[in-house]
Amino acid sequence: MSSDAPWNWRHPGYVLVLDLVAARAGLLPPSCPPAAVEGIDRAMARLGLSNNFDAYRTRLETDPAALDDLLVELTIGETYFFRNPEHFDFVRHEVLPNLRRLRGEGHVVRAWSAGCASGEEPYSLAVLLMEEGYGERMEVRGTDVSRAALARASVASYGDWSLRGTDAGRMRPFLHPEGKRYTLAPEVRDRVHFGYLNLAEDSWPSPAHGIWGLDLIFCRNVLIYFNRGTIEAVARRLHAALAEGGVLITGPSDPPLGEYAPFETLVTDWGIAYHRPTPGDTTRLHSLRRFPAPAPTPLEPLRLEPTPAPRPPAVLPPPPPVPVTPALPAEPEGLEGAKQALARGDWHEAARLAGALVEEPGAAAVAVRALANLDPLAAVRACAEAAERHPLAVELRYLEAMLLLGLGRLQESERAVRQALYLEPSLAVAHLMLGHILRRQKDTEGARRAFRTAESLCATLPPDTPVFLADGERAGRLAQVARDERTRLEAHEETRG
Ligand SMILES: C[S@@+](CC[C@H](N)C(=O)[O-])C[C@H]1O[C@@H](n2cnc3c(N)ncnc32)[C@H](O)[C@@H]1O
Repeated sequence: MSSDAPWNWRHPGYVLVLDLVAARAGLLPPSCPPAAVEGIDRAMARLGLSNNFDAYRTRLETDPAALDDLLVELTIGETYFFRNPEHFDFVRHEVLPNLRRLRGEGHVVRAWSAGCASGEEPYSLAVLLMEEGYGERMEVRGTDVSRAALARASVASYGDWSLRGTDAGRMRPFLHPEGKRYTLAPEVRDRVHFGYLNLAEDSWPSPAHGIWGLDLIFCRNVLIYFNRGTIEAVARRLHAALAEGGVLITGPSDPPLGEYAPFETLVTDWGIAYHRPTPGDTTRLHSLRRFPAPAPTPLEPLRLEPTPAPRPPAVLPPPPPVPVTPALPAEPEGLEGAKQALARGDWHEAARLAGALVEEPGAAAVAVRALANLDPLAAVRACAEAAERHPLAVELRYLEAMLLLGLGRLQESERAVRQALYLEPSLAVAHLMLGHILRRQKDTEGARRAFRTAESLCATLPPDTPVFLADGERAGRLAQVARDERTRLEAHEETRG
């Protein structure tokens, strides 16, 4: 946002507020300044700070809820059931058959609606999956930055406006009229799990939100709001959140993402979809023309370093000599540089920097996290070997469990997460993960116990305390996630009998 924009802002404070929003949330300058002015006015008034721009900016800097509230004013939450039906047809005819082929009949499909607004999109996905016979084999999530929209999504009461799409009739069997509105049947409502997530933050992918190892992502009509830097970072994280063989669908007006992450770009009759290829799988997604993924920078193979130990540990390649370019400011090196590279989604750089420091358990973990986005199988191997080298490093066991879970290797994942819990019995995120693993293994009682333990461990902390290994997630939110998982499980059990 620059102060010489053609629009004549009533007060310079608006420009400073929008600059702050661009820096913190990656939003583009508003396409309609008068609407932005009104939105900022409303958000300031709600906090009792009308016309007090200095106090409002301080509040935006310090209070995440105030920033979220403003984001909602500056974006549009418009949506409806089965919007762009061609996207759902594509999932039915291309994505699901391909998943069946890759993962087998019993696979639980993991889908995510990123920027779900009031829930019509993830509920449409749930209905599609039910139509296709995945009634008992789906995990559908919807996330948004608008808590008000999420609350509406959870209540799941809709008016005719949500049914304006050509394919909305597919929802009718599940909508019960109540006055002028319709209430969604519990059999659909209970299949979708909602949560807060700001896509511009680097807190995801993460098992704490359930945002990882996904088969299908709908991220439609959200990226249009982001500036280029944010689009790049979000594209990389979306790629990282997909399981191999998973597909991302964006909206018709969203910016293209192919150049920012090693997606395979699928060109369809209606536009572009993005595929995270499975290494070695040469079968083509049916009837599609595909552009190859941009050749990724070749990742050096894991190198084995001879040691007197019975099995030589794997280390990531040491950094190549860095050419001296005095004109450029030096990038931070070492563990800090690796962490920064990881945060901005530069997996190769993160792996390169952290790979030189594998004697430090923290660096080994950063290397594994980076590698996980490039070659999950190699990451599992590197993680297991790093865990052997650092037998007391709880983070490595936890990462190993997460990676194995992402690959659907449930028993091995359970073993690794139990090892993490043996080392650190109060590791709330590990209990949460154990709950997910046991639920997928149909051990409902064990899953319930694990979710309950995660919840009570988080409840002992002040709600604002960041939880260990939870990617910045706070205790209050994580307790809520664990509680939601448990109650959803219990509700599901009740409806089954
Ligand atoms: C136009 S709606 C899209 C709804 C649905 N995906 C669809 O296409 O029908 C845009 C949604 O993006 C959400 N949004 C905007 N910025 C966001 C951010 N940084 N993180 C997550 N959601 C965001 C808004 O709150 C809004 O609900």
